[in-house]
Amino acid sequence: ADVANRTAAIADGHLNVEGPLLPILHDVQKEFGCVPEAALRVIADKLNLSRAEVHGVMSFYHDFRQEPAGRHVLKICRAEACQSVGGEVLAEGVRKALGIGWHETTPDGRITLEPVYCLGLCSCAPAAMFDGELHGRLDDAALSGIVMEAGR
Ligand code: FES
Repeated sequence: ADVANRTAAIADGHLNVEGPLLPILHDVQKEFGCVPEAALRVIADKLNLSRAEVHGVMSFYHDFRQEPAGRHVLKICRAEACQSVGGEVLAEGVRKALGIGWHETTPDGRITLEPVYCLGLCSCAPAAMFDGELHGRLDDAALSGIVMEAGR
């Protein structure tokens, strides 16, 4: 009920702006660290959209999540320039090492893995972002170093 009430209040604050959905999603995620199912339904109600429509927008913008993130977030670029220089193999390696798939969090809550589509670092591909910091020219060793050295 708390999630629903607080989401309703956030939504009400944006109802008279044009294109309220994105600002609402951003604020809800800021409030809860994610956009939980209960919030999604409230937002849909408030905007006269279906749950599926709101969910569709959420998944289109890769910044929104439905569950809280781990303590660290690793975003690996899966766009063209990075793919062409082994980005996918790199991603596969880290997924195996962590034992998780895209959009998943390690069971200890340490790391969340997310795909991202171009970090603007194409000339230094393959690229990734770890806790908001950009890293380019990555290879297995460099990437696992970054991931493993991060604190609990
Ligand atoms: Fe990966 Fe641009 S394609 S940073």
